[in-house]
Amino acid sequence: MPAFAASAPGKIILFGEHAVVYSRPAIAVPVNMVRARAAVMANPAGPPGQVQIRADDIGLDSPLDALPYDHPLALAVHLVAEQIHVERLPALRLQITSTIPIASGLGSGAAVTTAIARALSAFLGHPLTDEQVSAIAYRVDQEYHGQPSGIDNTTIAYAQPIFFIRGQPFERLCVGQPFSIIIGNTGIASPTSAAVGDVRKAWLANPDRLERIFDEIGSIARQARKFIEDWLPERLGPLMNHNQALLQELDVSSPELDRLIAAARSAGASGAKLCGGGRGGNMIALVTPETAQPVADALRQAGAVNTIMTTIEKT
Ligand code: PMV
Repeated sequence: MPAFAASAPGKIILFGEHAVVYSRPAIAVPVNMVRARAAVMANPAGPPGQVQIRADDIGLDSPLDALPYDHPLALAVHLVAEQIHVERLPALRLQITSTIPIASGLGSGAAVTTAIARALSAFLGHPLTDEQVSAIAYRVDQEYHGQPSGIDNTTIAYAQPIFFIRGQPFERLCVGQPFSIIIGNTGIASPTSAAVGDVRKAWLANPDRLERIFDEIGSIARQARKFIEDWLPERLGPLMNHNQALLQELDVSSPELDRLIAAARSAGASGAKLCGGGRGGNMIALVTPETAQPVADALRQAGAVNTIMTTIEKT
């Protein structure tokens, strides 16, 4: 059997993280500059049925059977096998690599699962649909995030800019004109589950206040959709800043994120906010061809360990 390889992009949430868990709309786009890759090849010399999983980025080189069933990489393999009704996998090697930083709001987990599901199902002769891949990535995310909204797996499996409301079919976003975003990494790994859990506690303690914030974030996401589709970029930056102020009220920003966001705005970004779970991870800034370099430089000077520029193409 030949080797099969697949890759999947990272993602950023432009508007609406956290409120999306409470069924408000959000907007997310794939980031093709960073990707997870999976390659599956037969291992004729291996013991029958042995699946060897190797992920150098996390120092893992292990037979599938030696991993707990719900280990995220193992679970992805089990769910693919279940989906296509393969009871016993042939002896194979699965190699995973990724340039998406882990636990930093760029969807690394969903991208790794997506790449595994695509490569393994193709290797087994039953390529899965985007919908099946997305459902598997959601199941794996559930093990680690508790109650994920589903925005990560949907953006990554369909590799499209989306307007997303939990529990509803997603809508593809029509991007009126290409636009560019600089992503700045604080270098602080921050598990989404912790931030989501703290927002849940705050919501339980003060539901009226939190519901008002979620409503306001949802209304920002709806306005942003219109400005992206009708292409009114001068209206998008202020919406990003307003979204960030509400994320601060939810207490999911951090001094490091706030510093990078302030630096990006001072260097000419028309808007900036954290993206993803927050407390660390990445922030995003809306830039033009003129402000892209000064903003990237300012982010580095303010302590960003890495910056990525991504362009959202017209759709
Ligand atoms: O940190 P990420 O990339 O997993 O994004 C999480 C987005 C949240 O809205 C905070 C959680 C969710 O499941 O939507």
